[in-house]
Amino acid sequence: MIIDGKQISQSLKDAMKIDVDALAEQYGRRPCLMVIIVGDNPASRSYVRGKIKATEYCGFDGHLVELPEDVSEATLLAEIDKLNNDPLVDGILVQLPLPKHISEDKVIAAISAEKDVDGFHPENVARLWLNQHCILPCTPKGIIELLDQAGVEMAGKKAVVIGRSNIVGKPVAKLLLDRNATVTIAHSRTKDLAAVCREADILVAAVGRAEMVTAEYVKPGAAVIDVGINRTEEGKLVGDVDFASVEPIAGAITPVPGGVGPMTITMLMRNTIECFLNRVNNK
Ligand code: GUN
Repeated sequence: MIIDGKQISQSLKDAMKIDVDALAEQYGRRPCLMVIIVGDNPASRSYVRGKIKATEYCGFDGHLVELPEDVSEATLLAEIDKLNNDPLVDGILVQLPLPKHISEDKVIAAISAEKDVDGFHPENVARLWLNQHCILPCTPKGIIELLDQAGVEMAGKKAVVIGRSNIVGKPVAKLLLDRNATVTIAHSRTKDLAAVCREADILVAAVGRAEMVTAEYVKPGAAVIDVGINRTEEGKLVGDVDFASVEPIAGAITPVPGGVGPMTITMLMRNTIECFLNRVNNK
């Protein structure tokens, strides 16, 4: 089974669009997401375009704040402060990566935790690991949603996550743990990675290496979630999973493009609605 993230995203966005119209009616305004981009990294530009397009589709208010590559850290922090204090702004997202002269940690921590639609703020990360109410990071949240929609049972299953990033690997491992999977986080120093992965009923690949996960990494029937977005030398977009060799043996698999990517954006829309509701209800 191919898990169609594009189609699942579309139906979730269609439902949100209707909800947002009702919220606008009820509260007299629409959820508002502000997206900040620094510089003109082509990949970041393309991701940000997708995010803005989705906000428009779902009927949010939203704007892109474009800052030059050489903007000072102080100017960026001042811009965030302005948005933190704007009562009509519900969500703030700063597209990563940032230029080297700006501290990502400082910038993430400067965003008000209530407006942190990425779920990257230390307060939200701590709350996630303490099982407290929090904004969940978009890609991990989208992965769990895809597994649910595909009917993949997580409780009691072995899950292996390849990659230990703050954005994907670590939080998705925590969410799988919360669904009662037995979770292994594998990484570049894991010995006999293929053998470790072959144990998995659910395999999440978030390494950023084109088509690294081949059939020998996959137990027949496993659910395989491909988080990678890599460009080959020929300019083709491919995942971390070698789709051609893995698809015939996997029980379920997400394609690239059209798998996890669209779900990340859709979960960003959900998080924006969540921040809006928390704010209008003074939570
Ligand atoms: N860069 C790559 N992924 C992400 C993401 O989920 N959020 C932000 N803000 N930047 C990113």
